[in-house]
Amino acid sequence: IISAAIFDLDGVIVDTAKYHYLAWKKLANEIGTDLSVEENERLKGVSRMDSLDIILSLGGLQFSEVEKVAMADKKNTWFVDYVNQMKPDEILPGAKNLLESCRANGIKVALGSSSKNAKAVLDLLKIAHLFDVIVDGTMIKKSKPDPEIFLLGASLLNIPPDQCIVFEDAEAGVEAALAANMRCIGLGSPAQLGKANLVIPDLKNFTIEDMINLVPIH
Ligand code: G6P
Ligand code: MG
Repeated sequence: IISAAIFDLDGVIVDTAKYHYLAWKKLANEIGTDLSVEENERLKGVSRMDSLDIILSLGGLQFSEVEKVAMADKKNTWFVDYVNQMKPDEILPGAKNLLESCRANGIKVALGSSSKNAKAVLDLLKIAHLFDVIVDGTMIKKSKPDPEIFLLGASLLNIPPDQCIVFEDAEAGVEAALAANMRCIGLGSPAQLGKANLVIPDLKNFTIEDMINLVPIH
C-alpha cells in the first residue's frame, strides 16, 4: 500500500533544473572549463558543494576551500536571480494536479529536495501549503544518492518508508529512494533512470489513478 508521496522539487515540480544548469555552466566557463548537458545529469539531486566538486574534477581543476565557497556562492546568486524572475506557469504540467489529488485521496505529501532554496521556490510559486512536510538541503547531512532526505521525510510524516512513493528526475534521487526502501517513479529518460519502478517522460498525463494502479493505496 501507499500512504505518502514524496516529491523532488527541481525538475519534478518546477522547471528549475534548467536554471541550476545555466548557472553552473556560467561558473564553469568563468573558471576555464565547461559543462555539457550530459555531464550535468550527474549534478542533479546532488548538493551545491558536491556539484562543484564534480565540475572541478571533470575539468581537472583544484581550488582551496575558501575559493570553492566563493564560487558556490556566486553560482547560487545567479540561480536565485533566475528563480526570482520565475512565473507560476513554470510549475511543470501535471504537478500541481497530482499534489492536489494526492491530498484529496488521503495520501500524505512531502517535499524531498537537496536544495537550500527549496522553501523559497515553493513560497514564490505559492504552493508550499500543498505539502504536509518539507525536507530541504538545510535539514540533511548527506545529499542524494544517500537515502537520508527521504527517510527524514517519511519519519516526519510518521509513515513507514515502504509505504512511500518518490517522484524523481535525477539518477542520484532514484538511487536514494530505492536505498530508502521506497517505490520510485522516474521522470525523464529510461537511459538515466532505468532503476526506477516506472519511468515516464513527465507528469503531464500522469494521474493518481495511474499511481494507484502501480501501487494500491489503503
Ligand atoms: C537539487 C538540484 C541540484 C542542486 C541541489 C542543491 O538537488 O537538483 O541541481 O545542486 O538541489 O541546490 P541549492 O539550491 O542548495 O544549491
Ligand atoms: Mg530534481
